[in-house]
Amino acid sequence: MRRVSIDDLKAMKQRGEKIAMLTAYDYPTARLLDEAGVPIILVGDSLGMVVLGYSSTLPVTMADMLHHVAAVVRGTQRTHVVADMPFMSYQASSEDALRNAGRFLQEAGAQSVKLEGGVSVAETVRRLVEVGIPVMGHIGLTPQSLNQFGGYKIQGKTPAAAVKLLNDAMALEQAGAYAVVLETIPAPLGKLVSERLSIPTIGIGAGPYCDGQVQVLHDMLGLHPDFVPKHAKQYAHLAEEIGRAAREYLTEIREGRFPTERESFMMGPEGEAVLAELSGLV
Ligand code: KIV
Repeated sequence: MRRVSIDDLKAMKQRGEKIAMLTAYDYPTARLLDEAGVPIILVGDSLGMVVLGYSSTLPVTMADMLHHVAAVVRGTQRTHVVADMPFMSYQASSEDALRNAGRFLQEAGAQSVKLEGGVSVAETVRRLVEVGIPVMGHIGLTPQSLNQFGGYKIQGKTPAAAVKLLNDAMALEQAGAYAVVLETIPAPLGKLVSERLSIPTIGIGAGPYCDGQVQVLHDMLGLHPDFVPKHAKQYAHLAEEIGRAAREYLTEIREGRFPTERESFMMGPEGEAVLAELSGLV
């Protein structure tokens, strides 16, 4: 069985076949997504918020990411695994980017990396691609620039911002990126960028016309019901289900209804003799 390649993903765009990408951060979930036929998994630095409990993606480190990317790779056989490059792992220099991106492929077994930015990171993308590291771009609302944006705000709304976004997308394509994530931009702009690029666009809050869609797994499974982003749809309500299971477990323990004989290990006839001997000893 071979993994989905960047050429397979580009061919999907050419055939007009929509690309479904999801995030995952651990072995069991990655296994389930792989078995369900999800072609591409992003181990996003959203890890920081949905798994590690930080309030932004900024504290996430290379060590955090390597640990989780390796677990996702172990859980998958066919899915293409993208490693998200965390804040400050590629911004200071192309050398940093090469070294850190290389670690994701060499140590964690990812098939490609993702980094945020357009024109400003195009040279870095070119150098990564030159040494054989496939790169997915990410523009629009790039969460690592949260402090620059002053919050999680929709991007590309003014004509100047829309032109900048299109230029960023084209710079990434020219630099050799194989796909680009468009996050939180108006749907008509998502459509225009998708039509202008030959590489796939993967939208999150970028409307229905992108070549593919990505969602954060915890949003789509309903694991964080207190905050559901506007762009997200809950395909399950796992927070309720987990709460229900935990409450039922608590009740059964308190009432002595778990474990029963069914979940216990018995000794058999010879065990009775052992017990009799033991009780004679104590
Ligand atoms: O970190 C992440 O999960 C992402 C997606 C939202 C695209 O970058």
